[in-house]
Amino acid sequence: MRREGKRDPAITIVAAALLVACAALLVEEAYGEEELVTELANGFTATHSADAPGRFEPFLYAPNGVFALGFLRVGTSSLDLAVVHLPSSFPLWRSTPARLADWSSPATLSFDGRLVLATGPVEGNLLWSTLNVIGDTVALLNSSELVIRHYDLRSPSWRSFDNPSDTLVLDQNFTMSTPPLISQNGRFALRLGKTYMALHMEFYGGLTRPMYWQHTAMMAQPENATEPPVYGRLDGQGFYGLYLQGSNGDDTVDKLAFDTFVQNLTGAFRRMTLEDDGNLRAYYWTDASKAWTSDYQAISGQCQLPTSCGAYGLCVPGEAAPRCQCLVNDTTGGTTTPPCAAVETTDLCGAGQLFDVVRRSRVSLAYKERVPFETYRTAAECEASCAANCTCWGAVYNGASGYCYLIGFPVETVVYEADDQKVGYFKIRKAQPHRSAARPRAMSPGVTAATVILSLVLAVAGAYVGYWLWDRRRRRLAGGVGMEQELTSRPYRDLKSMDSSNNSFKA
Ligand SMILES: *[C@@H]1O[C@H](CO)[C@@H](O)[C@H](O)[C@H]1NC(C)=O
Ligand SMILES: *[C@@H]1O[C@H](CO)[C@@H](O)[C@H](O)[C@H]1NC(C)=O
Ligand SMILES: *[C@@H]1O[C@H](CO)[C@@H](O)[C@H](O)[C@H]1NC(C)=O
Ligand SMILES: *[C@@H]1O[C@H](CO)[C@@H](O)[C@H](O)[C@H]1NC(C)=O
Ligand SMILES: *[C@@H]1O[C@H](CO)[C@@H](O)[C@H](O)[C@H]1NC(C)=O
Ligand SMILES: *[C@@H]1O[C@H](CO)[C@@H](O)[C@H](O)[C@H]1NC(C)=O
Repeated sequence: MRREGKRDPAITIVAAALLVACAALLVEEAYGEEELVTELANGFTATHSADAPGRFEPFLYAPNGVFALGFLRVGTSSLDLAVVHLPSSFPLWRSTPARLADWSSPATLSFDGRLVLATGPVEGNLLWSTLNVIGDTVALLNSSELVIRHYDLRSPSWRSFDNPSDTLVLDQNFTMSTPPLISQNGRFALRLGKTYMALHMEFYGGLTRPMYWQHTAMMAQPENATEPPVYGRLDGQGFYGLYLQGSNGDDTVDKLAFDTFVQNLTGAFRRMTLEDDGNLRAYYWTDASKAWTSDYQAISGQCQLPTSCGAYGLCVPGEAAPRCQCLVNDTTGGTTTPPCAAVETTDLCGAGQLFDVVRRSRVSLAYKERVPFETYRTAAECEASCAANCTCWGAVYNGASGYCYLIGFPVETVVYEADDQKVGYFKIRKAQPHRSAARPRAMSPGVTAATVILSLVLAVAGAYVGYWLWDRRRRRLAGGVGMEQELTSRPYRDLKSMDSSNNSFKA
């Protein structure tokens, strides 16, 4: 017999479950009807919420649903505006303001004819904006390009492809007038010359920029002043093409072929990124692989990278793996490991600039062909020519050839070579007690490790929440797009890049 008023708990549970299911269906319905925003009109404003769960808060999507524009958290707490490849959460373009805002600040992105990123009222709080541009709409294209368009004009009045950060994507033209590609840590740049592309280190805020890698277009004629300059473009067939400006694109003057060039890989999305270790690498992404696979790097061999062991580092090539040591006098016993010294931000000119000297044999520069040299009979003459010049930080002498390579920029990593005739002379700024007290150096290893672990945990947690949100959204979209992709380990890379002064092989 059933007693009134006391229901079976099973029925209650089933009823509750049904209620939840109905609610879920209603939510699903609401989501299903939600259209992706693919265009912003004049007057648009987005405010970022500091307690958003993910690293990325999108508000504008490409029609193919693969790319989005939004607020991006960089490192642990900085805020930037970025175009992100959603399946990998890799930022393909960033506004990179000179002054980064804190993620917890109430920043807004508004469009009033130009795009403006500011923390509060624009006066005095402007972080970044598109200059000298007036447009009616903002859109993100299927190519990942962000454009500002004018109703009356056919071509966009502003395009992110003309303002790259550290990455070039498929079909993006890179010309002599395009601003350089700058690595996230700001220490390296890719520039195009009239007949070549080249990588540079950036010192003293970009005033001194020694070249450490160069690729000259094979068929270009540098002597021919009337020949137009070359421009570059990443091609879907797996190469970086250099073309003559003004040509229709068939006029390839050089092809930098990637590993996948012979494979006829179709449908892959490609990017080329100037990374924080100073290398230029190409990657491709396919829906099947769900990961960025590298098929090109400009520099192979860790010791060939310009700052692989940091400032005053010595890279020792090895069969298994290269090792990092510090540049110390030959007479100093034992070896020390990086970090060896902080990167110098000013030269040794001016009153009271004192320096000590380090002499080391069996050293060379990975990029010595790009460094100016003089010829001397002795190492002492080579040294003297550098010692007397306050913009010279060191000299590497080859006793066999007499070549004296002069380092006109702060000393970075040099390479070990088992040749007693190759000797180096390096200036090292004398520690000034009050200065080093005012500028505390690196954190203690314990604190650093704890910070890294904590950041890693937070980044992974954030990434997963972000992925979960994105994945839910994707399932809404999946019908048309059919992607089944996941997050890569980008947050880890960000952590590494935060620690840019310490580019040893520990990571
Ligand atoms: C962008 O991609 C979407 C989905 O793949 C497609 O429907 C649309 O036609 C594409 N737009 C252009 C301009 O190619
Ligand atoms: C790149 O340049 C070529 C040749 O000038 C042009 O046809 C093409 O449309 C450009 N691509 C983009 C994305 O602007
Ligand atoms: C220089 O370049 C122009 C345009 O490409 C070409 O017509 C001319 O023949 C070249 N001259 C020489 C000397 O190579
Ligand atoms: C590459 O792909 C294209 C189009 O799919 C095809 O026509 C061509 O034969 C392929 N080439 C090779 C070498 O497989
Ligand atoms: C290295 O040796 C030179 C003498 O060759 C000496 O003057 C200099 O102080 C030494 N440098 C250091 C950092 O000990
Ligand atoms: C000093 O060194 C710089 C760079 O190493 C060089 O450009 C300059 O000509 C040198 N000055 C003198 C007077 O030798």
